[in-house]
Amino acid sequence: MESLVTYDALADVYDLMYPAASPDIADTVDFIAKLAPASGRVLEIGVGNGRIAIPLSGRGLTVHGIDGSEQMLRKLAERDTENKVVATKGDFTTSTTGETYDVVFVALNTFFAPTSAEKQVECMCRMREQLAPGGRVVVEAFDPLPFHRSEGEKTSTRYLSPQAIMIDSTHVMRDRQLMLVIHTVLDGGTPRPTQELIRYAWPSEIDLMARLAGLKLVDRFAGWKGEAFGPDSPRHVSVYEATEDSENVNA
Ligand SMILES: C[S@@+](CC[C@H](N)C(=O)[O-])C[C@H]1O[C@@H](n2cnc3c(N)ncnc32)[C@H](O)[C@@H]1O
Repeated sequence: MESLVTYDALADVYDLMYPAASPDIADTVDFIAKLAPASGRVLEIGVGNGRIAIPLSGRGLTVHGIDGSEQMLRKLAERDTENKVVATKGDFTTSTTGETYDVVFVALNTFFAPTSAEKQVECMCRMREQLAPGGRVVVEAFDPLPFHRSEGEKTSTRYLSPQAIMIDSTHVMRDRQLMLVIHTVLDGGTPRPTQELIRYAWPSEIDLMARLAGLKLVDRFAGWKGEAFGPDSPRHVSVYEATEDSENVNA
């Protein structure tokens, strides 16, 4: 799990990269809370520092999370002062919590963290295994097209705080659908480059992976507000349910 080295290294700046106050979090929480029954059970795959899971647990839901990064889970424990989120340390492509949930979701391109199609299918299978009857799997991911088309290396900067910026240098390996992002924090100290390697997948490819795992697409939106998805949508929020065949197998 090469990505875990990355997330252990980014844990201390993750809050600055994705601030807890971002409006997207409120929309994500609303979306998942509406999909789950009252007092339902929700699992976040790649729960990280609890950016979404902690506010979600304030909506009367039982919230569990799974993550492989010790440091991200340490941050979650620090922030979750009321101990509301039940976190399990593990590789979400190979392990489960052993329980089932009304909603299993994977946000913020975390589905792309496993760097092979096979591993991504394994992630889908684990999500399906943890789905309660009538439940939904939700995947948020970016549309790869602009990245897939881009030539050479691209560099952008990200504001972290009045004292710090992050430089993100992105290199796409189109033949393998891989993207290497080198994140470097500049805060007056020694620059700390951290490599993040992801494998992007097309929405139709993700649907096929879902099919292989016994899931079928029921809804696709352009964001957590339920915006209409179209050819120019930069990301998608896709909702899957179990296929009849896989419901029968699990019955
Ligand atoms: C982009 S972060 C997203 C965290 C959180 N979902 C959020 O929206 O802020 C991805 C998270 O997935 C975890 N992760 C990546 N690959 C994993 C794997 N194979 N098994 C378990 N956790 C993994 C990382 O440790 C990291 O915390």
